[in-house]
Amino acid sequence: MSFTGVDVYTRVCARLDHNFNLATKEANMIGPKAKLWLAAAAVTTTMLSVPALSHFDDKEMPQSYRQSYFALLAANFGPMVATVKGEAPWDQVKMENWANDLAALSTLDIMRGFVDGSDKGTTRAKPEIWQNKDDFTKKMESLHTELASLQKVTAAGDRDAIAKQVGAAGKACKACHDDYKAENYLY
Ligand code: HEC
Repeated sequence: MSFTGVDVYTRVCARLDHNFNLATKEANMIGPKAKLWLAAAAVTTTMLSVPALSHFDDKEMPQSYRQSYFALLAANFGPMVATVKGEAPWDQVKMENWANDLAALSTLDIMRGFVDGSDKGTTRAKPEIWQNKDDFTKKMESLHTELASLQKVTAAGDRDAIAKQVGAAGKACKACHDDYKAENYLY
């Protein structure tokens, strides 16, 4: 990542309730020596709050797909939040890059990651998603609308307007998480 201070990214991810315990999880599936090494890595990871291992599980493709997607959302949205809060210096070019990437992410069909039968496994996606698919899809679409506005508003450069729109997009994240994302892994 090119932005100054991976720390902005990591702090923001921590705030977004990103889970860093994957290293420990993976450690249970391998030999003792690698386990020790990974345990050490996990400690370091926790201390630095850096997600060291990406999670892509061949046996849980949809789950991994959607979690990777949300990680990308957070990696681009988080620094924008930090910037409008004054926790990071304003860099207009980076703000536009993040906003553009968020708009680009909106074009992916994320519902592929929520196919029927993918409600179990390593996931914090609540079963209510599959019972209220229409509402869930609507909440995803409203995020996309907010992110499209965010791209426009960011390009225009008015900092107050950008901050306001970051807030609106953040509300769209939260509206869905409140109903459909569990605090901890469910299964
Ligand atoms: C329509 C619903 C919805 C919206 C909108 C949404 N999320 Fe999520 N998000 C989820 C669900 C469901 C999960 C849990 C996925 C899982 O564990 O399988 C999740 C997981 C995450 C995770 C954890 C990913 C991981 O590594 O497992 C992060 C970070 C995240 N979301 C950030 C965001 C941000 C930032 C936004 C807004 C820019 C956002 N989300 C918008 C539903 C949503």
